[in-house]
Amino acid sequence: MLVSHIISNRMRAVDLIRKKRDSGEHSREEIDFLVAGYTRGDIPDYQMAAWLMAVWIRGLGPAETAALTEAMLHSGEVVDHSYLPMKKVDKHSTGGVGDKTSLVLAPVVAAGGLAVPMISGRGLGHTGGTLDKLEAIPGFNTSLTLADFRRVLNECGMGLIGQTAEIAPADRKIYALRDATSTVENIGLICASIMSKKLAEGIDALVLDVKTGSGAFMSREEDAVRLAEVMVDTARRTGKKAVALLTDMGQPLGRMAGHSNEVIESIDILRGKGPADLCELSVELSAWMFYLGERTKSVEEGRRLAEEMILSGKALDRFRQCIRLQGGNERVIDDPSLLPMAKSQAHVTSAKSGFITSTRCRDFGVALAVLGGGREKKEDRIDPGVGLEFHKRVGDKVEAGEKLVTIQYNSEAKLAEAKNLVAAAFEIGNVAASAPPLIKRIIGG
Ligand code: URA
Repeated sequence: MLVSHIISNRMRAVDLIRKKRDSGEHSREEIDFLVAGYTRGDIPDYQMAAWLMAVWIRGLGPAETAALTEAMLHSGEVVDHSYLPMKKVDKHSTGGVGDKTSLVLAPVVAAGGLAVPMISGRGLGHTGGTLDKLEAIPGFNTSLTLADFRRVLNECGMGLIGQTAEIAPADRKIYALRDATSTVENIGLICASIMSKKLAEGIDALVLDVKTGSGAFMSREEDAVRLAEVMVDTARRTGKKAVALLTDMGQPLGRMAGHSNEVIESIDILRGKGPADLCELSVELSAWMFYLGERTKSVEEGRRLAEEMILSGKALDRFRQCIRLQGGNERVIDDPSLLPMAKSQAHVTSAKSGFITSTRCRDFGVALAVLGGGREKKEDRIDPGVGLEFHKRVGDKVEAGEKLVTIQYNSEAKLAEAKNLVAAAFEIGNVAASAPPLIKRIIGG
């Protein structure tokens, strides 16, 4: 308190804006001053906005990014899970279409003996969010108090909730300002925003799934690599173990997109069924969580443990228990018809014969949002029953008239636009293309 009082007497926001404008490097104290002052309301929006734009143009170095992350992290509560005897680990994905691995790996890793205190987000733009997917399950409560979150974690080793008011309040305020001032797309700012929330979970280790390709926020591989490197470096500077998997989002993950659909597909994987790509990535991310959480001596051993948790049914039991503890109807596991479903179906078929060479994956996410499965404004309600089922993947042969995608919809008025987006998102050529590798690189492994 005394220190921050002395610092604030010496520092002025206007000088720090000038320093960054002129490509200077901030000290930790300067960043603490800006974050604490803005969160308290002492620094006005116009000065913070000017500083964010200076950062957007000039960038943040690694030490500045770590300092910003820590300042935002300590603007709120860091959840204390010391009552849990095991290591606490989590995964964060930068988001994509059909990315439902959290629903699979949380029960796998909890069943394997680590704790997964997952605080997740909602869908953003064309990408889906874990919270929205879970809320497709009737009764599932993602707004637990921290006391209830701890009780659930204590009983089943996993818990899945949304950000609370106590967690990283500086990010909430700064993110809203970035959104309104076109300063979102900066690697240092993105890193601090994501990592401050994840580190507030009170975890020992974090596995990052950084997506690249046409359905990712960072579509260019070099940008995704840079973000992954900065996030791993920042986590380590704050004393956490971290690794990033750079994974392909040039086409949807799995065969299903949409909220009820993705719950069903996750349950399939937990039964040892389901599509190979989703299974591979879920197992790989779980394996790294086991390894970083010191549950296994190697990633290979982590893979075996993840597979064992699935094949023995222990992971599915853990998911069932978590659904029950968070107020959801656990019978959805045995009877998916209890999930909200769309009333009608339509098919998008191929206009010509050939091979799928690539997809504009983002447009599948946009089509889903058009159908009601995404938000235009923060307060929009999601329709969990609408969805897309993909019948073809990159590399597949397709005949003219063959089904590419089944659209599950509720509103006839929205169908035509969604159909056009989906149909135009497939690139079909005459020469067979091989599917890109799903896991492109491990960063910091
Ligand atoms: N997600 C976040 O939480 N923050 C960002 O800055 C970008 C994506």
